[in-house]
Formats: sequence, structure tokens, C-alpha cells
Amino acid sequence: AKVEPTPLSGSGKDVSHPPPNCNNTAKLPSNNWTFNKTLSKLIRKNILRFLDPERDISILKGTLKPGDVIHYVFDRQSTTNISENLYRLLPTASPMKNQHHRRCAIVGNSGILLNSSCGAEIDSHDFVIRCNLAPVEQYSGDVGWRTNLVTMNPSVVQRAFQDLASEEWRERFLQRLQSLSGSVLWIPAFMAKGGEERVEWAIRLILLHTVNVRTAIPSLRLLHAVRGYWLTNNVHIKRPTTGLLMYTMATRFCEEIHLYGFWPFPLDPQGKPVSYHYYDTLKYEYTSSSSPHTMPLEFRTLSRLHRQGALRLHTGTCN
Ligand code: CTP
Repeated sequence: AKVEPTPLSGSGKDVSHPPPNCNNTAKLPSNNWTFNKTLSKLIRKNILRFLDPERDISILKGTLKPGDVIHYVFDRQSTTNISENLYRLLPTASPMKNQHHRRCAIVGNSGILLNSSCGAEIDSHDFVIRCNLAPVEQYSGDVGWRTNLVTMNPSVVQRAFQDLASEEWRERFLQRLQSLSGSVLWIPAFMAKGGEERVEWAIRLILLHTVNVRTAIPSLRLLHAVRGYWLTNNVHIKRPTTGLLMYTMATRFCEEIHLYGFWPFPLDPQGKPVSYHYYDTLKYEYTSSSSPHTMPLEFRTLSRLHRQGALRLHTGTCN
């Protein structure tokens, strides 16, 4: 079916040439932002032509069985098998079934959140989505602590928990999982090869300690469907980031969507350095051609949606 682009795409030209170290994107009208319900509904409707986030958020038990062969989404020639443990943790119904929320916060991991004092504001939303098991405890004044859904790329186990190499790291990881009590833990297990064992370790810990989380493993079609939607809107994204995936899916469950911690630039609007993450010293080449993501392009797209009132990007401090 032919899908008309939603007005977010603008000229197309505007979005395809990210200026290096771009900071001019900071000019977001923040005080006079008003929610554009009509546009937000239109975006939801158009996204639903490509994917149904309620369904695509997770593979369900019963749609496959232990031992089934899976081709990785980005490495089609590589395969893995559905393990017994992974099968046990698949939900029987969508963890987002019939969920509708008025105001949702999606928290990205940029260092722009440091000293923002946005914690209480973030926590005041009806549904809070976080990315990649980012720590909250020591940063709650700036990032809040409530979590209804959190993502976990398999690489996080290596990057943030030292590949669970010692008892101490296993304990820290377990504590982070236990702190999620009742949230949805979204694990993109079949995107790229290489994370198989890390996913298995996480799953084993969850089962062994009866950790109270609701696991979700995204459908194999989700990534391509999300890319397809944005491509139709002239946004040529190589590989959508977790943040953009969450926004695209949240349009299904949330009325008003507020984004915090999205700032893929090395300097803040005043020219001060901003770390890539609010919680570590990881460096990131935002515009490198070897990076799987095109974050500045995504950001400009989100900025345009902000100006149009379809979502609200928070990049400053909160009162
Ligand atoms: N993000 C951002 N600016 C930053 C860092 C992150 O806008 N400086 C957003 C991105 O949308 C990113 C999300 O916050 O997907 C979560 O950040 P992170 O955990 O660092 O994501 P990555 O692991 O770098 O990338 P991904 O999970 O998307 O592959």
C-alpha cells in the first residue's frame, strides 16, 4: 500500500547533511511548546502501517519452540537457536497489551542530563522508558529512578558489567536487574551476532533468582519495519538507535511523548563539553561513517517533530 509521508519529513534536504559538531540544533522553542494531538495521531496511524508495536515488541511463546533456528537480523548468514531458558522467559501475551498512557518519558543516555535536575520531572510521567540498563541510583536527581520499561543490548553486559567476569560483577548485574521490579526488560537478542552468551547469562540469572521482570525479545521484523517507516518519511537511517526505536514504538502506547537525554553532540548549546553518557567516560564518534547509527540525523528529525508539537525534546535544565 502506498503510504503518504507525514509532514515531519520537510524537504528531505534539510535532514541529510548533518553539519559537523552541529550545535545549532539547540534552538528548540521550549517555553511555548504545545502538544499537536492531530499530528501525533497521524504519526501513530502511519507507523501502524509498518509495524504494530504491541505485537512487535516481543516474540511470543507458542510462535516458535526451543531449538528453532533464528537468523540474526543484521547478520543474516549467522544463526542461533532458541534455548530452553530463553523460551521459558518469552511472554505468552504482549507485555504492552492494552496499555495506554497519557504522558510518557523516554530517557536517552546523553551526558546532557548531568546537573539537569530533571529527575522529579521525568518520574512524574505515567510511563518511563530507559535505555541499556543505564544506572539511576547515583544520578536520580538528574535522571529520576522510576522505570516501566528498560532496554538491554547484549553488549551492555560486557560494557557496563565487565562480562560478569567476577562474582562482584555478577552480583552488581543481579542487583540492577532486581531493582527493576516488575518492569519490562526488552532484550534485542537477535539483532547482531556475538551477544548469544551474554543474553544466556542474563536469562539464567533471572530464572535462578526469580527476578521480577517481564522479559520481551523484539520480533525479527521490528528493525526493518521501523527503518521502512522512517525511510518513507525521507529519513535515511542506517540502523535506528535504541532511542529512536523506543520513540517509534511509544507512539502506539503514549499520547504525549517527552524525550530526555537525547543529545548526540560533544558540546552543549553554550559550548561546554558534554559526555556521551551521563554515567561513564565512553567516547563516541557521532558522525563517523563506521558507526552503525546516524544520531545527529535522528536528532534533527526529532527536533523537527518537537517544533511541530508531535513530541517534546527536553535538552535544558528542569525547575
Ligand atoms: N543518545 C543520544 N545522545 C547521546 C547518547 C545517547 O541521543 N549522547 C540516545 C540514543 O537514541 C541512544 C539512546 O540515547 O540510542 C540510549 O543511549 P545508549 O545506551 O548510549 O545507546 P547506544 O548503546 O550507544 O546505542 P544503541 O543502543 O542505540 O545501539
